[in-house]
Amino acid sequence: MPSKRLSALAFALSAAVSVHGQSPEWGQCGGTGWTGPTTCVAGTVCTDYSSSYSQCVPSTSTVTPTSTAPVSTPSISPISGNTLTFTGVNIAGFDFGCGSDGTCNPTGAWPPLTQYYGMDGAGQMQHYTSTDGYNVFRLPVGWQFLTNGVLGGDLDADNLAEYDALVQTCLATGASCIIDIHNYARWNGLIIGQGGPTNDQFAAVWTSIATKYADEEKIIFGVMNEPHDIPDINLWAGSVQAAVTAIRNAGATKQLILLPGNNWTSAETFVSNGSGPALLTVTNPDGSTTGLIFDVHKYLDFDNSGTNEECVTNNIDSSWAPLATWLRENGRQAFNTETGGGNVASCVEYMCQQIAYQAQNSDVFLGYVGWAAGNFAPTYVLGEAPTQSGTTWTDTLLVSSCMAPIAGAQSGSTGE
Ligand SMILES: *[C@@H]1O[C@H](CO)[C@@H](O)[C@H](O)[C@H]1NC(C)=O
Ligand SMILES: *[C@@H]1O[C@H](CO)[C@@H](O)[C@H](O)[C@H]1NC(C)=O
Repeated sequence: MPSKRLSALAFALSAAVSVHGQSPEWGQCGGTGWTGPTTCVAGTVCTDYSSSYSQCVPSTSTVTPTSTAPVSTPSISPISGNTLTFTGVNIAGFDFGCGSDGTCNPTGAWPPLTQYYGMDGAGQMQHYTSTDGYNVFRLPVGWQFLTNGVLGGDLDADNLAEYDALVQTCLATGASCIIDIHNYARWNGLIIGQGGPTNDQFAAVWTSIATKYADEEKIIFGVMNEPHDIPDINLWAGSVQAAVTAIRNAGATKQLILLPGNNWTSAETFVSNGSGPALLTVTNPDGSTTGLIFDVHKYLDFDNSGTNEECVTNNIDSSWAPLATWLRENGRQAFNTETGGGNVASCVEYMCQQIAYQAQNSDVFLGYVGWAAGNFAPTYVLGEAPTQSGTTWTDTLLVSSCMAPIAGAQSGSTGE
């Protein structure tokens, strides 16, 4: 049922439409409450992204890959209504207390589970999978929390039990679950392999984690959240290689591993700033790149910081189109594990466009993970957590309008 805000949104969008009776490229051409044109300008096709949103997608963008190099497509069926392999959201909380200098105070971590006095992350994930069609959750955690502040790979049993409770809750929904070490390539201010922890110390924590989850095929290993200001990108690729080798040698041979570049994992500068070329050298122990996926983040606000309510771009020309070309040329794929915006009309417009573009290019883009749900307060500017009333969960505007692959899924009940 369209809310007041959705009606206002439909009005705002219809006002922006061409007066010639046809929607422009990337313009809306159908959906819930849509009263504007349902035909598209030449060269574009009206494409149903969901029953609540259709838009004019360039007919040339459904190109087949030009590269003959093998693309490591995971054996997971696409979700109906969306051709992307993965759609989901970050379940934040275990990363609370982490600064962007890699100082993660273990006591700052706040498990997003009611048994640890957090929000109901379990209920959120059940709602997202049963009502919205989500099939992946990213579970950020600080390195220091996992080891209780001791540098290296020995996991703290009590802290691991708490984090594993979230991992198991995620796996129980049937979704894939990304283990994300949320340390910005650092430990207490110093960069891994470049003055800080050695590559061996970094590999050791991945050996411990991968040993624990070696038989869980729906675990995805997120090597590191948002490296930034890395002096030597080739040395960083060596640190990523150490983590990949550790994970595979621990027996986790089938799972996806996400490889992060510099500049906060920005999709926009992944190639131009040298991250892509450097990370192309990272391989599995057998020399293949099967399951090695590039990790990229992109927000839609004016400074790509993910801190502003309003969105100003769909990132297609600046980031997604050039990245898609580069990925095809190299026979590789990327996964957008952080993106988001405020629950406002500008973000609905641009996020729907970004997602439609990613879906049109799903040969190279695996999907997206929104930022964020979990332990954020309902007032958080980029909040995507559904609100609960009794057994009914109601999604935010951005999730229900764009991010949920099941069309128009605004609220649903669980536990009945
Ligand atoms: C980092 O990425 C942003 C956009 O995502 C860009 O504006 C900025 O110039 C980049 N910085 C570097 C050092 O590449
Ligand atoms: C990436 O950005 C950093 C920081 O601005 C810069 O020093 C470096 O030269 C850039 N590398 C490439 C390959 O553009």
